[in-house]
Amino acid sequence: MTNTHSDALVFFGATGDLAYKKIFPSLQAMVKRGHLNVPVVGVAKAGWNLDQLRARAKDSLEKHGGLDPAAFEKLISLLRYVDGDYQDPATFAALRRELKDANRPAHYLAIPPVLFETVVEHLSVSNCGRGARVIVEKPFGHDLASAQELNKVLLGTFDEADIFRIDHYLGKRAVNNVVAFRFANTFVESFWNRNHIESVEITMAEDFGVQGRGGFYDQTGTIRDVVQNHLFQVLSNLAMEPPVRSDSESIRDEKAKVLRAIPPIEEQNLIRGQFRGYRDENGVAKDSQTETFAVVKLEINSWRWKGVPFYIRAGKCLPTTCTEIVAKFHKPPTLIPDSQLVENHVRLRLSPEITIAMGMMTLAPNAEGLVLQNTEMMATHSPRADEMDAYERVLGAAMEGDSTLFAREDYVEEAWRIVEPVLKKNTPVHQYAPGTWGPNEVDRVVPNGGWSNPGEKKALAFASEAA
Ligand code: BG6
Repeated sequence: MTNTHSDALVFFGATGDLAYKKIFPSLQAMVKRGHLNVPVVGVAKAGWNLDQLRARAKDSLEKHGGLDPAAFEKLISLLRYVDGDYQDPATFAALRRELKDANRPAHYLAIPPVLFETVVEHLSVSNCGRGARVIVEKPFGHDLASAQELNKVLLGTFDEADIFRIDHYLGKRAVNNVVAFRFANTFVESFWNRNHIESVEITMAEDFGVQGRGGFYDQTGTIRDVVQNHLFQVLSNLAMEPPVRSDSESIRDEKAKVLRAIPPIEEQNLIRGQFRGYRDENGVAKDSQTETFAVVKLEINSWRWKGVPFYIRAGKCLPTTCTEIVAKFHKPPTLIPDSQLVENHVRLRLSPEITIAMGMMTLAPNAEGLVLQNTEMMATHSPRADEMDAYERVLGAAMEGDSTLFAREDYVEEAWRIVEPVLKKNTPVHQYAPGTWGPNEVDRVVPNGGWSNPGEKKALAFASEAA
C-alpha cells in the first residue's frame, strides 16, 4: 500500500479516559488546523448513542483545553458511533457499515492491552482491517514474550509499515529538540561522548498520584508505564549516533542500536519505591508491591558511551512535575582545588518548559581574587496554548503513514529485554512520603555529586583560601 492519507479514523475506547483527556482535544485541534476532514468513528461498549458521544466530546473539550465553536461543529459532523462488545462480530459488522467505502482506515486502539488481540482478530475477519492502519496505545505488551505475541497478532493482519506503536513522547517537540540540539550544532558533537561526559541523569517527576487509574497502574508500575517506553526514547535521542539518512528507518535503526548496546538492568542498579497512601487508591491491592517510583542505572556499551553511567529516575507524588536531563562533565585538571569546582553540565528540560542550559564556573562578579561561582547560560521556551500537542502530532503522522514518531518492533523487544529480567525478580519496594524525592534507599544508586533535582540549585559561590 502506498502512503495515502487515511480516509477514516476509528477509535476504540471512545467513552474512556484517554479519549476524554487527550483524543477529543487532539481531534478538535486537527480539525482547527485543517488536518482532519474524514469520518471519525468512535467505538465502545457503553450502551450509548451518537448524541451521548457528542455530549461527552463537548464535556471533554470544555474541561481539557477549551471548546472552539467552529472546530467543534465540524468535529461533531465528522463523528460517528458504534456501540457494542469487542467480542461480538456484530460490532465489527456495524463498524464495516459505518466505514462505508473507506479503504484506508486507521484503527486506533485506545483500550486496555488485554483487548488488543480480540479487536485485531475481529478487524481482520470483518474486513475492517483490509487496507487499514492500526495505531496501538502503550504499554506494548507486559514483557518480552507478550510483546512478541502481540507483534505476531498484529503482523497476521497488518504490514509492519501499517503498524503504529504509540509512544506520545515521540510526538513531543521537546523530545525531538534533544536530537536538534545534538545534530544541528557542530560544537556539541565534540563533547558529547565518554571523553568529556561523566554521567547522564534523566528525571521524570510528577507531583500527583495515579489519578483514578489505580486498576491500570497496579498492573503496570513505573518501569512499564514510563521507563521502558517514554524515558528509553529520551535516552535513545541522547545516545544515538547521527543517522546516515533522514528517512524513518535510518532514524529508527540508530535508536534500536542504542538499546542493543545496553545490558539487562542488574538488581543492584534498581531501586523501587511506593508512595505512602498508594494502597488506599481504588483498584490497588492492599498488599501491592507495584512501584510508583523507580531509579535505574544503565550502561551503554558503545564506542561513544562505554563507562558513562546513565541514571533514570521517575515517580509519582514527587515534589514537582518536571522532566529534565542533566549531563555532567568530568572536572578539569586545573590548579583550582577540586572542592571549589562544580562539574560543568548541560541541562535539557523537556517540560513544563523547554530549556537548554550550560552550567559553568566563572569568577564571581562581586568579589576580588579567586572566588568562583557556578552559573548557567540558558535558552528557554514556554509552549503556547496553540502549539501542537504530542497526541495531535502522532495521530496526524499515523494517518499520513509516517512511521518516524513510532516505536519499531525490534526496538520494543530490545526495551523489554533490558527491563524484564529485573522486573521478574520481585525486588523490594520501599515506602516514601508523598512530596519527597523517593525512599531513603535511593542513596544506593546515585550519580557522583548527588542527584540534580529540578528547581534546586547547587551551592553557588566558593571563596578560595587565597582570596
Ligand atoms: C503516560 C503515563 O503514558 O504518560 C502516565 O501512563 C504519565 O502515568 C504520562 O503521567 C505523562 O505524560 P506527559 O505527557 O504528561 O508527560
